[in-house]
Amino acid sequence: MRFLSVIALLAATAVANPVARSTKKEFHLKTTGAAKADFNDLFVITYHTGAGTNDALLENKGSIATPFYLNGTTALANLGNVFPWGFEMGGDSNYASWESVQINAGGGVDGFSIKDGNFVWSEEEGFGGWLVCDWYHNAPQLFWWDKYYPPTIPCSCSKVDLKPIYLTQ
Ligand SMILES: *[C@@H]1O[C@H](CO)[C@@H](O)[C@H](O)[C@H]1NC(C)=O
Repeated sequence: MRFLSVIALLAATAVANPVARSTKKEFHLKTTGAAKADFNDLFVITYHTGAGTNDALLENKGSIATPFYLNGTTALANLGNVFPWGFEMGGDSNYASWESVQINAGGGVDGFSIKDGNFVWSEEEGFGGWLVCDWYHNAPQLFWWDKYYPPTIPCSCSKVDLKPIYLTQ
């Protein structure tokens, strides 16, 4: 019993983390800074890949851009229903230089913030930045690259920054 209450206390402490700020201000995510000009001014959208799962693709029409918001340090998509859809980042456990980005049913992973005007993930988790590649959905797709295994960028890819474009409500 004592053991359980310690766990509960730890959980409560984690939730009360003062770094976590909740803001429901919604934004689109727009690419900038790509060496490959075609990959600038694109918006992140969700691409259905199965029950409750989406890949993150990029699209040039702002009118269909997915609205996102931060809840503390999780990043969630508003897909127009009651479920949260959270950013999930492929783990850097396979010595690869870049990893998947998915937006799946559920709260997603922690570690997101807006830093110097850019939407970023946790450097402690190995986040070096975002990568866009023409990939297997026959469209530009979002990945994250690992700062410990920096990628040699293939000609189908480019590093990008993601800027939050806040929606007027
Ligand atoms: C937002 O974060 C709070 C605190 O961690 C959590 O209880 C709540 O379920 C989250 N909301 C969504 C939509 O994920």
